[in-house]
Amino acid sequence: LVAHFQPKVLAGRRVLITAGPTFEAIDPVRGITNHSSGKMGFAVARAAAEAGAEVTLVAGPVHLPTPLGVRRIDVCSAQQMHDAVLPQAPTHDVFVATAAVADWRPSQFNEQKIKKDGKKVAPTFELAENPDILAAVARLPAQTRPWCVGFAAESHDLVRHAREKLQRKGVPLIVGNLGPATFGRDDNTLLLVDAAGERELPHGDKLSLARDLVREIASRITRFPT
Ligand code: CTP
Ligand code: CA
Repeated sequence: LVAHFQPKVLAGRRVLITAGPTFEAIDPVRGITNHSSGKMGFAVARAAAEAGAEVTLVAGPVHLPTPLGVRRIDVCSAQQMHDAVLPQAPTHDVFVATAAVADWRPSQFNEQKIKKDGKKVAPTFELAENPDILAAVARLPAQTRPWCVGFAAESHDLVRHAREKLQRKGVPLIVGNLGPATFGRDDNTLLLVDAAGERELPHGDKLSLARDLVREIASRITRFPT
């Protein structure tokens, strides 16, 4: 019921969101992933939809229900997430990258399950770097580039790392949180880091934080025409 009473601060806006972990396959039965639950991203998708936005959610492998009215695209690997996001980006006004994208993938995919057989030594894997989806969207030409928000989960030196990511990724807003303590939990503490400074959102459950974040984003993009 509360959802219906959210101010429609994103009416007429299109919002693209990545959420969840990615899964980088080693062979048909194994892969590399992480503990991202997708909850924060799904909460942002729900909050943006409640605020009147048309929402596209590109989700890694998670078992979460799709928020009402949200268009969902399921992907597995970082490369697939990248390939789903990039063509969508130019038709969206805002891009929120909450996904915990695997930084590396195994350089080679084994078509068949790797068997122990009589191997004397454990196999080793070479890794290749995945594309940086947020940085790629932030590099789009100005006319087609959505307003970009990055997330930074850090174990230490949150402000320094968040500020460094703001610069390196070329985005106007980074949302920092201290992980892995927050992974899978329903509550969180978020720190907004932008050119103006730092501001902590009041501690709360992920949906309340997502609604606060949506209001913050809306107030920052009002300068842009729809
Ligand atoms: N991100 C992305 N694509 C990647 C890696 C990260 O889109 N290949 C996005 C994340 O969704 C997040 C932001 O970039 O919004 C920061 O992710 P993070 O992992 O904190 O940054 P990295 O640049 O990968 O640095 P590191 O993991 O070394 O801290
Ligand atoms: Ca990373």
